[in-house]
Amino acid sequence: MSSSPESHLIFDPNTIIADRARAIDASGIRKVFDMAASMKDPINLSIGQPDFDVPEAIKQRAIQAIEHGRNRYTPTQGIADLVEPIRHQVENDTGWKQPGIMVLSGTSGGIMLAMFACLNPGDEVIFLDPYFVMYKHLPKLVGAVPVSVDSYPDFRLDAKKIQAAVTPRTRMLVICSPNNPTGMAYTSAELEAVAAVARRHGLLVLSDEIYDAFCYQPHVSIAPMLPDQCLLLKGYSKTYAMTGWRLGYAAGPRPIIDQMIKLQQYTFVCAPSPAQYAALELLHSNSVDMTPHIDEYRRRRDRMVEGLGDLYPVGNPGGAFYVFAKAPGGWSGNELVRRAISKNVLLIPGSVFSDRDTHFRISYAASPAHIEKGIAVLRELAQEAQ
Ligand SMILES: Cc1ncc(COP(=O)(O)O)c(C=O)c1O
Repeated sequence: MSSSPESHLIFDPNTIIADRARAIDASGIRKVFDMAASMKDPINLSIGQPDFDVPEAIKQRAIQAIEHGRNRYTPTQGIADLVEPIRHQVENDTGWKQPGIMVLSGTSGGIMLAMFACLNPGDEVIFLDPYFVMYKHLPKLVGAVPVSVDSYPDFRLDAKKIQAAVTPRTRMLVICSPNNPTGMAYTSAELEAVAAVARRHGLLVLSDEIYDAFCYQPHVSIAPMLPDQCLLLKGYSKTYAMTGWRLGYAAGPRPIIDQMIKLQQYTFVCAPSPAQYAALELLHSNSVDMTPHIDEYRRRRDRMVEGLGDLYPVGNPGGAFYVFAKAPGGWSGNELVRRAISKNVLLIPGSVFSDRDTHFRISYAASPAHIEKGIAVLRELAQEAQ
């Protein structure tokens, strides 16, 4: 054995970063947050979560759960007291028979597990542009190919455009209604037409319905139209303002859910235990009524459309808490956002959610006073753009 001193390579943490991590570009949204950091008391219309707090009864149930020792791992698929009522609820809502159910660490967890469970390298995933950012980036983590379908200018769900994007490699179609970032809620006719495309090509439809409670017209789900080839994702984050509690659930064909449970076992392990026990409050009592909040959000949506509609084309946003508007005067979305920030209003450039930089997202999960200020500034900007 040589007695020479051991040689050391200098370790540079930057060199160990995998290509899949590098491939995700979060610079757009980071730039916005950097700009926001320098703003004093901004009129913040960029927020992707409700501005009300978790209902008191749910909070109390979580506190009790923690105090009563519900602080340990739960079964990977979720506690049976929650899973079984969810299964009944899904059966009632969709007409599905004995679907697989699992409780998730947020809907985001479900999107990730679904992609890991169902996609091979080279498989294609179709979704609309503008998109929720995970739809574009998570397929890449598994070597799959994100295929965005341009939905400008009206952001409706057009089955013909989706059909045109299908190739022999297409495996999955992601639908989000009501939609982030456009606020669109799709009609039965739109969803039926897309369900027909999915059936024709044997695609799995991942239906992200995290904003289902925030629907200002009857909410239509594609799930009942596709009993055997839909993976339904629902979340508690937005409906009950518990985005930090990390709770959602997936329902769908058992073979898919079984694989997702297996993958959850080796990743998230389980959804947070106190949050799962707190969610039982929603099943067995009438103590939580979100209707007043939803009615308030509907009024804010109406005010946004009324306050901006003549100067900014925003279409007919039927849900969530966003409108997606075109920047005036040929400005890019980023230019509009930069100018709004100079007037202390924070918005998100459309390029964060899109391959285009022509629009911007306004969130009305903000106080009516801030909404009024935002409308006033956007009206000023539209005048300046002329
Ligand atoms: C369309 C969409 N899906 C999923 C999520 C993630 O939600 P969760 O908090 O349940 O992970 C969000 C959050 O912004 C969203 O907008």
